[in-house]
Amino acid sequence: MNLRLPRINPTETSAWKQLTHSAQVLQGQRLQDLFGADPDRAERMSAEGAGWFLDYSKNLLDDQTLHHLLKLLEECGWEQALNATRNGGAINETENRAVLHTVLRDPGHPLRLSDGSQPGVLVEEVLNRMEKFVESVRGGQLRGCTGQAFTDVVNMGIGGSDLGPLMACEALAPYAGPLRVHFVSNVDGAHWQRTLLRLNPETTLFLVASKTFTTQETMANAQSARNWLTQALGERAKVKDHFVALSTNREKVVEFGIDSERMFPFWDWVGGRYSVWSAIGMSLALSIGFERFREFLEGARQMDLHFWETPPARNLPVLLALVGVWNRNFLKMETLAVLPYDQCLSRFPAYLQQADMESNGKSVDREGNPLTYHSGPVLWGEPGTNGQHAFYQLIHQGTVRVPCDFILAANTHYPGGPHHRYLSANAFAQAQALMQGRSLDEVRAVSAGSSNPAEAYQVFEGNRPSNFLLCQRLTPAALGALVALYEHKIWVQGVVWNVFSYDQWGVELGKILAGKVLPLLEEDPQGEVSGVDSSTKALVERWRRWQDGLEKPKGS
Ligand code: F6P
Repeated sequence: MNLRLPRINPTETSAWKQLTHSAQVLQGQRLQDLFGADPDRAERMSAEGAGWFLDYSKNLLDDQTLHHLLKLLEECGWEQALNATRNGGAINETENRAVLHTVLRDPGHPLRLSDGSQPGVLVEEVLNRMEKFVESVRGGQLRGCTGQAFTDVVNMGIGGSDLGPLMACEALAPYAGPLRVHFVSNVDGAHWQRTLLRLNPETTLFLVASKTFTTQETMANAQSARNWLTQALGERAKVKDHFVALSTNREKVVEFGIDSERMFPFWDWVGGRYSVWSAIGMSLALSIGFERFREFLEGARQMDLHFWETPPARNLPVLLALVGVWNRNFLKMETLAVLPYDQCLSRFPAYLQQADMESNGKSVDREGNPLTYHSGPVLWGEPGTNGQHAFYQLIHQGTVRVPCDFILAANTHYPGGPHHRYLSANAFAQAQALMQGRSLDEVRAVSAGSSNPAEAYQVFEGNRPSNFLLCQRLTPAALGALVALYEHKIWVQGVVWNVFSYDQWGVELGKILAGKVLPLLEEDPQGEVSGVDSSTKALVERWRRWQDGLEKPKGS
């Protein structure tokens, strides 16, 4: 069985050429006219699965474009890529690793890897251990070293070891139990020190979350937490009672002093940004309880099944991915705004930034050649309606076009008053306004013949694309399905763009250089700064003088 990813330059497919032509034709058309000429457009250009409804009809495309996009995916070796992924091929080739985060939501999965290991069995074991641990912490049986039950949990991790659980804890706050969960990620001491003000060492449980257990930020924070605990509790302090490790690196965990019984492992076939389903999800499980955590996994599993079993033309992740390729490569849009109309999803755009940009922010293809076309867009966003009062001006009337993903639940966990109707009306209206715009004639009709010197400024060009994702209620299962939807979307796009979506070499250089700059900050403030460029040298020298008060900033 061929378990390698294909090597196909998408620009050399026949579909790419057809799509280039379609883009020229469609760019001269108006979305509003496409709706006017086709009463079934919204019904046809929508799909449903795993509890989510997707309306992609407000994108500047037609049936033929969609047909070519599906053809493009096929021509890019979709079947081969899917087969290699599902059967445990080392598709993260530059790190020689399989990519099996989907097994995390399918405990007991029968797959056996070439080294004889059975990921599904490992997953089941760890989940069962996590369940017991979560229940004994939440039930107050497992206590701190002075005999008090835990009241606070601090997740110390960064990137994938922070963003997923943080986002999910926020999103599922309506399900949270009595444990208070905090997240410390930034190496900036402000993050840790401001958090500790709210903690009692006797009742705090620390989760050191790091796939590698070598990440500078996390290890520095974990070390400070350990010092704080031992200083505060003196002889009574038993670090092992207050620390848990979530990691793949047993050796480093033991070296840090965490009991291997308190280590919950995961494996190298789980990428950091795809790890919320693994032991990295411990903070979420402690917050919402294990039953809910399993519902979260099951929601994702339902999206996996939808993804694997639904024909591409009705398949949510495939459609979202292909519409994204269309906007990025053919209509030349450089960014994607993710706009959850849900305060609980306030960290969703930040989470998705890592998932998407670390995966598809690539410029070399699978044969090591520079890409001659664009890959992943810049992803950004804020929850509605706050964004409306900040950056939507540019989205409506700026000179760049920004495709938007609107996300909304039909029911809120916080009923009472008109809030949810206002919120929902705004979400629908923004997508509508972006699509239809407002012509000069319409502006003049409002002025009803009276002079209006601002009329040119009140015109909205419209024709601005968006997707709309709707679920019934943001339950653990719905959130699981939403996250899995985007994970698969990212993967489909990586297949088309012919990149390796599961490595992240782009984060390495900065880490190496930080290691070289650090000694310059620790040396004698009067000493010479060498071995760096003139800009870095001047910055470091000024930093030293200002830090030591040897010089005052001008004008201060
Ligand atoms: O930012 C780079 C990165 O390697 C991410 O991919 C990862 O999620 C993060 O650092 C944290 O890594 P670790 O879990 O090993 O501490």
